[in-house]
Amino acid sequence: MGEKMGNLRRTIMCGNLRPENVGEEIVLMGWVQKERNLGSIIFVDLRDTTGITQIVFDDTISDELFKKAETIRGEYVLAVRGTVRARSSVNKDIPTGEIEVLAKELKILDEATTPPIYIKDDDNVSEPMRLKYRYLDLRKPKMQANLKLRAKTAKILRDFFYENNFVEVETPMLTKPTPEGARDYLVPSRVNPGNFYALPQSPQLMKQLLMVSGMDRYYQIVKCFRDEDLRANRQPEFTQVDVEMSFVDVEDILNINEKLLYKLFKEIMGIEIELPIKRMAYNEAMDRFGVDKPDLRFGFELKDISDLVKDCSFKVFTGAIENGGAVKAINVKGYGDKFTRKDISSLEEYAKTYGAKGLAWIKITDEGITSPIAKFFNEDEMEKILAKVEGSIGDLILIVGDKKSVVFDSLGNLRNEVARRLNLLSGDDIYPVWITEFPLFEFDEEENRYVAKHHPFTHPMDDDIDLLESKPDKVRAKAYDMVINGDEMGGGSIRINNSELQRRMFKALGFTDEEAYDKFGFLIDAFQYGTPPHGGIAYGFDRLIMLFTNSSNIRDVIAFPKTQSATDLMTDAPSPAAEKALEEVHIKVVP
Ligand code: AMO
Ligand code: AMP
Repeated sequence: MGEKMGNLRRTIMCGNLRPENVGEEIVLMGWVQKERNLGSIIFVDLRDTTGITQIVFDDTISDELFKKAETIRGEYVLAVRGTVRARSSVNKDIPTGEIEVLAKELKILDEATTPPIYIKDDDNVSEPMRLKYRYLDLRKPKMQANLKLRAKTAKILRDFFYENNFVEVETPMLTKPTPEGARDYLVPSRVNPGNFYALPQSPQLMKQLLMVSGMDRYYQIVKCFRDEDLRANRQPEFTQVDVEMSFVDVEDILNINEKLLYKLFKEIMGIEIELPIKRMAYNEAMDRFGVDKPDLRFGFELKDISDLVKDCSFKVFTGAIENGGAVKAINVKGYGDKFTRKDISSLEEYAKTYGAKGLAWIKITDEGITSPIAKFFNEDEMEKILAKVEGSIGDLILIVGDKKSVVFDSLGNLRNEVARRLNLLSGDDIYPVWITEFPLFEFDEEENRYVAKHHPFTHPMDDDIDLLESKPDKVRAKAYDMVINGDEMGGGSIRINNSELQRRMFKALGFTDEEAYDKFGFLIDAFQYGTPPHGGIAYGFDRLIMLFTNSSNIRDVIAFPKTQSATDLMTDAPSPAAEKALEEVHIKVVP
């Protein structure tokens, strides 16, 4: 049974005591990190959210107090009154290492059973254990630091938006299911049998309606829900920093967002990013990096060697080119000797997971060229290839020939993998880039129609509007992504605010007027009443925090995250609902 605090009240936090406090009588409250009983003296490390202080119980105190101190165990919750004194053996590893507190009064506010995980940052415990005992995992200093940084970031964002006349508006969580985009989380309606709400995948339509309402500038730090396959930087429920502005075009949005990003990196990481932020059209990103979210922290750019190998005797390459594909190479410049044949085989396996059928390579060494495909090229061809990739001694050239999408995907990802293996990725380097001029549509093989790459309300680039009907695949969008160190941190677009153009857009997507009205009628209706030119962006808030805290796992920046299979190991959600509860919402579960 725990004791009451009585009239003891905390006077200072554990992490804040310094030599200046020597001589003061203070009261600390916290958890026991560690206790050491040396017989005539007991040391207790007391922890709270600010850090740790060493408490001493020695033979100068009463027997009664000493006996009580002997019962202290790990994670007990204590209140300690005592005097701060200088420490004889200074601990340089912690900020309070020069002092300790000689206890005069002790209250054991609560006892604790031995926790199933250690409360220290590098405890090596499995992730399922961490998630099951999340409240203990969150006692770790690193996790607390992550959550504090998350809160600080939210404050900086709010200050910025407030200063720039953005209004924070809450949008509903129970909304209309969206036909486009990822899968919805559905919520059954009790009072409207057979009907469902959807949790919002984003406040996209609501924020556009706020522009119709004349709110002018909106933002929200908001939960979004998407029932999609999870990855290291995806959660089924995640947080967006969602923004929308009226009377703007692409430049205006990028400009204000650059100011925002500058402020964030400066205040959080102490890094002054260069403005204006680099911009790169989607096509250039694909050509040079194979992906639309290039990591610019290192080179190894893709080079097209299709022209140089089109007449060689390697049928894989010539075949790929004849079928409209390409042959591209990356030069892992200067790191050739870091990759053995075995390493290259494992790179090949990696490339195959992105659809490549193989990975050809050329190593340039003091003794000449080693390559399993050298035999297929004459001297002139080899020379031209090496010239194109700027090959020199010490280089490793990796080549894929296939249809273009496979070449981009496999080499683009391989490029990142090579940098990872070479440890070239430092979280302290920040390389932001706007990817612009995305294609408006992409072809969906399954549905056999064009679908919106961003969403159906994205404005085409003015120069390309005439191609909407004739060459939809050539139409570029007023859409942009903020990519940092190879991750998509945010994305947005200028929206269509003209009903005629919106109609043409729906048509290009294969909807009849009736279908479009059925799906987006409320928006089409609203747009009749005077819609300003508008556009916006949304950032993945969790991803920003991952970047700021150098976390590789999105779960480390979310207090109570879900597993890769969208479960909560602590509460055991999702779980079956009671028969009666199901009945009330008119649902029968078919096993
Ligand atoms: P988009 O779908 O690109 O755009 O989402 C914006 C940003 O949200 C983050 N994000 C995620 N983060 C964690 N887990 C997820 N499952 C997840 N999905 C997305 C990404 C992404 O860049 N309404 C538009 C924005 C706009 O046009 O204004 C939208 O939602 O960092
Ligand atoms: P092979 O003659 O089939 O043994 O292939 C010779 C080399 O070419 C091997 O290193 C293969 O990995 C590589 N290779 C096979 N298919 C491709 C491809 N589509 N693109 C690049 N290299 C390939």
